[in-house]
Amino acid sequence: MTSDTDWESARHRTAISRSTLSMPMRTALRDQILAPTKSVFDYGCGRGEDVRRLNHLGFDVQGWDPYYAPDSSRTPADTVMLTYVLNVIEDVSERKQTLLSAWELTRDVLVVSCRLTWEQLQVTGSSHNDGVVTSRDTFQHLFTTNELRQLVDTVTGVRSVSPSPGIVYAFRTDQQRLEYLARETISHHEWAESSDLTAAVKDVVDFAEQRGRIPLLEEMPPNVAALIATLPKTELTRLTRKGANPAKIEAGNKRSTLDTLLYLGISIFGGRPRFADLPIGVQADIRHSFRSYREACARADRLLLKIRDDSYIRGAMTNSVGKMTATALYVHQRAVPKMPVVLRLYEHCGSVAAGRPEGWNILKLDHRGRRVSWSSYPDFDKDPHPKLAWTFGVDMATLESKHQSFAERENRPILHRKEEFVASDDKNASKYRRLTSAEVKAGLYENPTIIGLERGWAAELERLGVTLKGHRLISAKM
Ligand SMILES: C[S@@+](CC[C@H](N)C(=O)[O-])C[C@H]1O[C@@H](n2cnc3c(N)ncnc32)[C@H](O)[C@@H]1O
Repeated sequence: MTSDTDWESARHRTAISRSTLSMPMRTALRDQILAPTKSVFDYGCGRGEDVRRLNHLGFDVQGWDPYYAPDSSRTPADTVMLTYVLNVIEDVSERKQTLLSAWELTRDVLVVSCRLTWEQLQVTGSSHNDGVVTSRDTFQHLFTTNELRQLVDTVTGVRSVSPSPGIVYAFRTDQQRLEYLARETISHHEWAESSDLTAAVKDVVDFAEQRGRIPLLEEMPPNVAALIATLPKTELTRLTRKGANPAKIEAGNKRSTLDTLLYLGISIFGGRPRFADLPIGVQADIRHSFRSYREACARADRLLLKIRDDSYIRGAMTNSVGKMTATALYVHQRAVPKMPVVLRLYEHCGSVAAGRPEGWNILKLDHRGRRVSWSSYPDFDKDPHPKLAWTFGVDMATLESKHQSFAERENRPILHRKEEFVASDDKNASKYRRLTSAEVKAGLYENPTIIGLERGWAAELERLGVTLKGHRLISAKM
């Protein structure tokens, strides 16, 4: 272990060339944190590749780096990006100072990303302070997801949100954080390009069927609002009632009520917001579906309490879409919106704390203890028995997370009975069911303890003289 004083890191060597935008920039774009109407500042921009790419996309973007762009000025911006900088700084107090300097430039949102402990195998070297010195004379401190969020919360003084493991958003105002959470939880209506009043009314009808209510003018894009504003309110109500399917309106209302409860459940983590700070559409949903904001909050609070109630959670899981085992419920991504709202809230709580990883397709919610895990089984639809590539889970008691990779293993865990993970009306459910019943008939599930891993499964196929061709089980001799 080296001491603090006798060594200086060659920090600039950590700046790599990339063939595309960095992952935090792509995540921020996806989440509308980066938008062409907002200025961007890349703090510690390295070789400036993200700056050039965003520039190319038409963004108003500047960057500064102590090594590559020391003469650029550090100017305030709506969105400030601090991408993989903190993890290369060997001094804890300088890390905090750097984070604070980036926050001081931030008008709307600071996006902080760091390398995580799960990269430990790729980052080797001798230990130094709270990290390692690599063979290239650079320093790396790998963060846990919880450590990163806590550091950002402490330095900025706001409650941050994690969109993805290793990325954290810190919003300047509560309204901005609440807008972001609403985009994450509340079903979004895609407005069409209406060019006349008839098309605009049709669009309002579609909105009403999805959300269970007529939209406010402020929720419409300017061109639709301008057309709709020519109608008296009573006439718009009459036309919407006439054009909409009442069953769809009722289903939309139910969805909105549940979405609102989910939203209020996760937004409480920064303290209960004032009604006036909520996005305008959420205010309208609350006015439409609840007696009062107080009643909506009380119901959301009850829902949050239920997450701690083992028998309630088990009951909800028993009635849920997905595969229930002795310890957990497993659900395919496509079926997650169909889970009971308390389970959706359970998943969202894990996601706000540690970030939902990109590329997952199977969700696991423990009912013994509280743990949310997202796993990736590539080719779930194509492969009759998908193989586990990785899993990322967060313990809801400690908020510590763990990532495990299985991709390099020779004998990976595999899935059976895929229909159990999806909804009964899923596009592929009947194909999966047919395969399972053929496999059961052939005796492939007689030894459940050995078929969970690739080799055991292959041995059983061989023992019974069968093989798989897509989702068909055929004789191996054919
Ligand atoms: C891993 S690179 C990341 C570069 C760029 N953000 C990217 O993602 O491509 C780390 C960068 O942090 C810069 N850096 C080191 N100490 C810094 C500090 N105190 N403030 C800002 N940037 C710093 C280094 O010069 C280096 O370019």
